[in-house]
Amino acid sequence: MSGFKLAIDGPAGSGKSTISAMIAHRLGWTHIDTGAMYRAVTLKALELGLDLNDESSYRFLESTFIHYDNDRIFINDRDVTEAIRSQAVTLNVSLVSSFSYVRQQLVHLQKQAAKEGNIVMDGRDIGTVVLPQANLKIFLTANVEERAKRRHKENLQKGKNASITTLIEEIETRDKKDSTRMVSPLKKADDAITIDTTNLSIDQVVDKIVDLTRSEGE
Ligand code: DC
Repeated sequence: MSGFKLAIDGPAGSGKSTISAMIAHRLGWTHIDTGAMYRAVTLKALELGLDLNDESSYRFLESTFIHYDNDRIFINDRDVTEAIRSQAVTLNVSLVSSFSYVRQQLVHLQKQAAKEGNIVMDGRDIGTVVLPQANLKIFLTANVEERAKRRHKENLQKGKNASITTLIEEIETRDKKDSTRMVSPLKKADDAITIDTTNLSIDQVVDKIVDLTRSEGE
């Protein structure tokens, strides 16, 4: 297979990034987590002390290179992979990603990165906006309780503790903001295949998508 583009979208906590990284590893392809790119913009804006509600604040992107490489995310040459997972970033990233200027800048970088193909790109608008011509589009879902449980487990491994109830509220708020924003809302592409991961293990989901990819590529 060459030049294949695999788009994986879904709401917060649906397992997109972990699953996409595993698929890319299995196929020897590149993975790009576009959520990490929006988080990097949010981190930088917070560090610069900018007014997050003002779209013109994000002009710094003209001279800032955000890129994802080998499961690490960089602002220029600085590795911010751990820093983008902070609570401050998580609470503000939906706002930052709602501005069309921010989206234009990142979508441009994402399209460039996908040009060569053999890529797994995950996010909210990959099948609808970034790669509308993707060879295969997957939309991952899971019920909110299951997504909160997964986040809780991940957090504990990183030494963070937040109650499941708080996580459910956080995820529901983010789902609402991401699905109702004016520009490129989280939305399943008409030609995407939905996989409900609530009762599936990560390995089962990865196997399923790799099988679909291989049969599509034949
Ligand atoms: O995948 P994540 O939870 O790390 O994404 C963080 C936020 O970035 C999410 O709340 C919405 C936004 N996002 C987006 O608007 N478009 C994308 N393609 C990816 C993420």
